[in-house]
Amino acid sequence: MQFINMTTHRVLVTGASGLLGRAILKEFKASSSWEALGLAFSRARADLKKVDLTDRKAVNDVVNEFKPDVIIHSAAERSVDVIEKDPEGTKRINLDATQFLCEAAGYGVLRVPVLYGEIEKLSESAVTVLFSKVKDTSTKSLIDAKQQRFPTLVDDIAYVIRELSEKKLQDPEIKGIFHWSNNEVYTKYDMAVTMAKAFGISTEHIAPDMSSSSTANRPDNSQLDCSRIENLGINKRTKFSEAIVDVLKPYL
Ligand SMILES: NC(=O)c1ccc[n+]([C@@H]2O[C@H](COP(=O)([O-])OP(=O)(O)OC[C@H]3O[C@@H](n4cnc5c(N)ncnc54)[C@H](OP(=O)(O)O)[C@@H]3O)[C@@H](O)[C@H]2O)c1
Repeated sequence: MQFINMTTHRVLVTGASGLLGRAILKEFKASSSWEALGLAFSRARADLKKVDLTDRKAVNDVVNEFKPDVIIHSAAERSVDVIEKDPEGTKRINLDATQFLCEAAGYGVLRVPVLYGEIEKLSESAVTVLFSKVKDTSTKSLIDAKQQRFPTLVDDIAYVIRELSEKKLQDPEIKGIFHWSNNEVYTKYDMAVTMAKAFGISTEHIAPDMSSSSTANRPDNSQLDCSRIENLGINKRTKFSEAIVDVLKPYL
């Protein structure tokens, strides 16, 4: 006998091979209310469908075939340094592909701060990359201690996205721009010290850098107002000092 759950909705997740997309796909797949299809490009594996999102026809084809109720667009070029060096290539994936998807569906935007979570390598996140400097106790490192950041776990973002998607299916008036972020403030130097303390590593080789000399311009404080999502009764914030231990353990 076959049981069909009439309340199941379909979600299409782009960028499902990426840092955030992997967590989003996992969150939806863990819920029996959703049937999820993940898209990827260069890292497409057996369970991810390869689609070049800069190809309008390919985007239309996958949307017409899968017929998603919700599309979560998590594919992008996110490195501001790459964006400044390659504006044309960035336009294709960050603007054109986004336009193709918006033509196929209505849209809302979730803005997020610097993210960390389960990684494929330390350099995959601007947070976890700091651990290379923390572990290298024989090399002195200066680490930014000026720019205030709100490092947020990708699992929390994925949870918020699924909850928001479910609320939006009940109320189409839920649209526009939303923000989600952890509310603990850390500079990169604070993050590095937290990592070192968690693993009993000395901090004598790292020192705070107050000059903020990064390649691209970045704001000193990137705090986001999350009240729209909080007012919908959605809230998940995992403590940085706890989550970072699980994320970094395999790289000790
Ligand atoms: N990571 C952060 O700290 C952070 C902070 C703020 C905002 N965000 C935003 O969050 C979103 C997700 O970021 P992320 O960190 O998960 O990025 P990521 O790890 O760099 O992943 C990017 C994803 O985009 C896919 N992609 C790139 N070009 C593509 C193409 N032509 N066709 C189809 N897919 C393509 C990649 O697929 P393949 O790898 O398979 O090619 C990958 O799955 C982005 O909008 C980013 O700006 C991220």
